Amino acid sequence: MPVIRHVIAPGDGARTAIADAAISRCTDPSAIGGPITALVEACGERPWAGTGPVVRSEGLLGELASRPGRTVDSWVATAGAEGECVGIVTLVTTAAAVSVGWLLVHPGWRRRGIGRALVAAAVAGAAERGRGPVTADTRSDWAGAVAFWQALSATDGA
Ligand SMILES: CC(C)(COP(=O)(O)OP(=O)(O)OC[C@H]1O[C@@H](n2cnc3c(N)ncnc32)[C@H](O)[C@@H]1OP(=O)(O)O)[C@@H](O)C(=O)NCCC(=O)NCCS
Repeated sequence: MPVIRHVIAPGDGARTAIADAAISRCTDPSAIGGPITALVEACGERPWAGTGPVVRSEGLLGELASRPGRTVDSWVATAGAEGECVGIVTLVTTAAAVSVGWLLVHPGWRRRGIGRALVAAAVAGAAERGRGPVTADTRSDWAGAVAFWQALSATDGA
């Protein structure tokens, strides 16, 4: 399946105001196993599954940790009275490139600007290190994801 590479413009999403959710950097990925598992389970039950990436909590949790040559930063969106985790983005930095690894928003919280705000946080995090542009790869049959990235970015079709 063809992969589309999206090049995220600096500042994309930065003006997004999200009234109901808060974005914060995750300083201890090992502490958010429970909330991430709950988020992934909520996504898996919904009809969009099959037209987007297959997400498994063990796969996502395994991608949160940095390893030699690969720094992984993550930001989460929390919402509701109990601060439920409703979204996550990871930023993967290597010597050669900086890219979005995972981006996931709870189905009940989509189309409220949370995806945009998470990406803006990741792009700002890359800029703090003097890195960019940030890219994101999407399979061409992931319709929602393709529409999302096209709304945010200039697409180079790589
Ligand atoms: C893709 C995803 C992260 C978007 O999160 P979101 O919080 O709903 O995104 P936003 O609300 O910030 O959307 C920003 C814009 O993207 C576009 N967009 C987002 N989802 C869309 C969809 N399903 N169909 C068409 N356009 C879409 C819209 O232009 C939207 O602006 P609007 O709502 O004002 O029209 C979310 O749908 C998701 O988690 N999908 C499953 C996992 C996935 O595909 N991740 C990306 C893999 S690369």
